[in-house]
Amino acid sequence: MKNIFETKAFSELKRVASNSEDFSSSLDYFIEHERYVFDFSRMKIPDGFFQVFENAAQELDLQGQIEAMFRGEKINVTENRPALHVALRAKRDEDIRVEGKNVVEKVYEIKKKIKSLVERFRSGQMHGITGKRLKTVVNIGIGGSYLGPLTVTEALRRHDANVRSYFLSNVDDWHWRDIFHRINPEETLFVIVSKSFGTKETLMNASMLKEKLETVYGRGIVEKQFIAVTANPEKAEDFGINSSNIFPMWNWVGGRFSLWSSAGIAIPLTLGYDVFEQLLEGANSADRDFRHMPFKENPAIIKAVLSFYYIYFKNAQSEVYVPYRQKLAYLPLYLQQLMMESLGKSVRRDGRPVNYPTGNVIWGETGTNAQHSFFQLLHQGTMTIPVHFIGSLEEGESMEPNRTFLLANMLSQAESLYSGKTSGDLFSFFAGGRPGDIWLVDRFDAWQLGYMLAVFEHQTYVLSLLWDINAFDQFGVELGKINADRIFEILNNDGLYKDSPLYRFILNRL
Ligand code: F6P
Repeated sequence: MKNIFETKAFSELKRVASNSEDFSSSLDYFIEHERYVFDFSRMKIPDGFFQVFENAAQELDLQGQIEAMFRGEKINVTENRPALHVALRAKRDEDIRVEGKNVVEKVYEIKKKIKSLVERFRSGQMHGITGKRLKTVVNIGIGGSYLGPLTVTEALRRHDANVRSYFLSNVDDWHWRDIFHRINPEETLFVIVSKSFGTKETLMNASMLKEKLETVYGRGIVEKQFIAVTANPEKAEDFGINSSNIFPMWNWVGGRFSLWSSAGIAIPLTLGYDVFEQLLEGANSADRDFRHMPFKENPAIIKAVLSFYYIYFKNAQSEVYVPYRQKLAYLPLYLQQLMMESLGKSVRRDGRPVNYPTGNVIWGETGTNAQHSFFQLLHQGTMTIPVHFIGSLEEGESMEPNRTFLLANMLSQAESLYSGKTSGDLFSFFAGGRPGDIWLVDRFDAWQLGYMLAVFEHQTYVLSLLWDINAFDQFGVELGKINADRIFEILNNDGLYKDSPLYRFILNRL
């Protein structure tokens, strides 16, 4: 497969990009959807760049490669699998095949099982080992088995909710002790989410909880109060989970793309099944737009082009996401895994090394908090850092004057970065021309959130296509895991590595 640099159009793209001061903040750089707008007029994209990009995209058969995902082709080439998160939010009548079988039917069968559990849980029909009603959820999982469900649950949480949920991810035992301190275990449903059921952190946490709970309440507690979500049901059964309480994940969905499946079960358990359905509907709508919208109105493709332009032509080593909604506090963390685990690659799909920059650093924090910490660097620092503002009008929910002031702050930051201020001395000099785009929705309900998260997923896929890398594997996390096991052994077997001052320090104190 070609990368974008090998297309004939690339030399023209490079020429256009070299006129980087030749841009207009034209109204063309604005997408108006009936439920959101995306304003990228301050991204300083040189005139003609998108037009030439379309030629490059044609040479890459970008549309064909997008279709390949929806057709269930094995686009995760290194693991020889499809990447079919889109099947998880497909409409019932869609036909998406893996090895000849329509997986949408299977997805709907499992959705029915999720719905039934959620309804029993939320209507008070599920009781713990001591007979108390279950009304708290503890999700035990890490990475994709945690960040997506956490981000969504937090973003849509209401104060009047009857169900509370906690997310136990870190192997630092403080994390589970802290959660344990806040819950009544007799009223808690423990959900182990692990695609592999082999992730040490998750298994250590789950085993620790199991041991503690069994000591106090007896062995029956796991069967009664634990469920598992995994692609490895045998291991979940070995752990003691009743087979009827095991929900599947599939090999054709990557962990960081899995919140739409049983892996996201904490979402409907906490917020209700209808909310989960709306989330899936929003994502499905983004999938359709991704597939059918012309490039210049296609938000996922445009967002990918913006990142590509800044990474390659402007050496933007990082991009910052600033949601102006406290409820979206976890979004930057979610995006970090989605984008950095997918795009942090140095090898092309056929195994050749790359000789161009790929994924960059993704970071962020909510506005206005971020303004009082790192915005100094964005305004007057020496690096190029595109800022992605995310905001909502949130009619009906927010209070004045906060609502309008929050919005004013977001607009003011985008404006100030772009326009700058050249009067006064050098200390109060703002060069301006600093890039920022704005994703603005009416309100962040489940539909909007589902739509936006799916756009980020597709943006990630498009970037991987431009670079000819595989967005769906993550071999880069393995070495650290292997070495952690080895070092764990060393630390437990005092004596080895004594000649290293660091290890000597640790071993003398452990
Ligand atoms: O270590 C990285 C990773 O494999 C992620 O890709 C994944 O989301 C996470 O670990 C958790 O994996 P699992 O769901 O198999 O426990």
